[in-house]
Amino acid sequence: MTDRYAVVGNPIAHSKSPLIHAEFARQTGQNMAYAALLAPLDGFAATVGTFRTEGGKGLNVTVPFKQEAWRLATRLTDRARMAEAANTLKFEPDGAILADNTDGAGLVRDIGENLGAGIEGRRVLLLGAGGAARGVLLPLLLREPAQLAIANRTPEKAVALERHFAAHGPVEGGDYARLAGRQFDIVINATSSSLSDALPPLPPGVFAPGALAYDMMYGKGLTPFLQFARGNGAARLADGLGMLVEQAAESFFLWRGVRPQTRPVIDMLLPC
Ligand code: ATR
Repeated sequence: MTDRYAVVGNPIAHSKSPLIHAEFARQTGQNMAYAALLAPLDGFAATVGTFRTEGGKGLNVTVPFKQEAWRLATRLTDRARMAEAANTLKFEPDGAILADNTDGAGLVRDIGENLGAGIEGRRVLLLGAGGAARGVLLPLLLREPAQLAIANRTPEKAVALERHFAAHGPVEGGDYARLAGRQFDIVINATSSSLSDALPPLPPGVFAPGALAYDMMYGKGLTPFLQFARGNGAARLADGLGMLVEQAAESFFLWRGVRPQTRPVIDMLLPC
């Protein structure tokens, strides 16, 4: 029997997840189908409930339902617990709804394995303190950076993240101004600034020699953040396409117990 999965969001038409998971299933010979589900803004739980009652095995969850998915869960992975948001649900045979957050694992895999940039012992700067930043903090800290600084326009939110994650590593949060005179080896844009073609207020000297600039957004070409990085000494630029495919692979692994190859799927999705 074909096992059913889907991605739920609002909007959802633009999602690349069905394409990615179809490719993973083909590659690994898994008998599964993967659809896109549009949930009404006030109907996430009902949409999940119907899908599950009809025999669905698991869901990916995207904007704006990641926190609701986390609340709906009856069992949480550590990374979902710390993120207070979930992008993956698995309906367990014992009736539990397991929630996971694979975004951070996808990011660190893309940076560490695909881009070959070690995180251990490096100075890492994370821009933004919203849901996207929160979702990647624990996996980043587990890779043991020398420092993990969080900068946010509203500094209180970065300080709150510092408190929430302090037990897991050398994390510090504050405003952009305090970055002046400091340098980082990896600078990750987890703000939504690229959506509005804006640039976070970064001081110019922030990129250390050889630094990687990573925008978690994808499909926007060279974002203002990446343009700024290119003009201010970053040696390497990356967008979030690799993270998108890697987080999907991590969800696929949770559901199916098989790890698909991501490189061919990243190559397939690269703009020609
Ligand atoms: P997401 O789920 O994408 O993280 P969010 O929770 O609304 O969305 O958070 C958006 C993040 O992008 C916030 O950190 C926001 O900063 P504030 O907390 O100060 O609002 C940040 N952000 C959005 N536009 C920005 C811009 N133009 N410059 C700097 N930061 C920006």
